[in-house]
Amino acid sequence: MACSQFEYVKQYETDDRMLPGCWIVLRLDGKGFTKFCELHCFEKPNDVRALCLMDAAAQAVMREFQDIRLAFGESDEYSFVFPRECQLYGRRCSKLVSLVASCFTASYVRLWPQHLPDTPLAATPLFDARAVLYPSDRALRDYLSWRQADTHINNLYNTCFWALVKSGKTNTEAHTQLQGTLADYKNELLFSQFGLNYNALPERFRKGSVILRQRVKHVKQTADGRSKEKERLEPCVLHCDIIRDHFWQQHAELLA
Ligand code: GTP
Ligand code: MG
Repeated sequence: MACSQFEYVKQYETDDRMLPGCWIVLRLDGKGFTKFCELHCFEKPNDVRALCLMDAAAQAVMREFQDIRLAFGESDEYSFVFPRECQLYGRRCSKLVSLVASCFTASYVRLWPQHLPDTPLAATPLFDARAVLYPSDRALRDYLSWRQADTHINNLYNTCFWALVKSGKTNTEAHTQLQGTLADYKNELLFSQFGLNYNALPERFRKGSVILRQRVKHVKQTADGRSKEKERLEPCVLHCDIIRDHFWQQHAELLA
């Protein structure tokens, strides 16, 4: 073969198959989204249109990659969980990371006009991606708890920060007032100064988004023109606590 003299270069490709038996988590994060959100005048601290777009892009990823067991998203990031026994692309890291990142990014761009019809996309959204392996169910749960706790901490801080700024404080003044304060102080500040009950804010903002495959009824036309109700598994978005045991007891199949 004419090309055989060149084939040795293939040996330089690294074998990046990920350890067997571990949960695979792929986490994507928007690059420079502080600027990207400013540029598109996203509502502060939470723009429900932008968050729904993130969820829709993640649902598209879950439709493309049926192996994904669940996903969790907040702000400009999304984590996708592949099961321990997953054999997709031989568990090759670069293959999985690049495919999921490009599927998410392309879906984000494709679905943008549906979610922000009055805002032209004025920059190229980019998402970095990494794979992390978790050897136990406990470690996977702790990872997801960490992301949801982060959602809560960031959202409480950002809600206070933007309430102070909207009330006339400069960014520096707002930051100084909040620096080192505990959750109780921030809750009290929102309630006493802005009449806001933090716990009454939408769960989407406080808890982020979890996507699971759930049975959804749909109507199918049969060949003879009749309609028949069928069920299929669809990636559905929930906004609920995933730190406590209750969620995992209710969805025992996730860790099975
Ligand atoms: P890199 O990830 O390091 O590239 O930086 P980044 O600018 O993307 O910051 P990071 O990922 O740490 O944080 C996400 C940024 O997105 C924060 O600045 C958030 O304020 C912003 N962001 C995410 N969701 C929203 C939203 O709904 N509204 C607004 N206004 N900003 C948002
Ligand atoms: Mg980011």
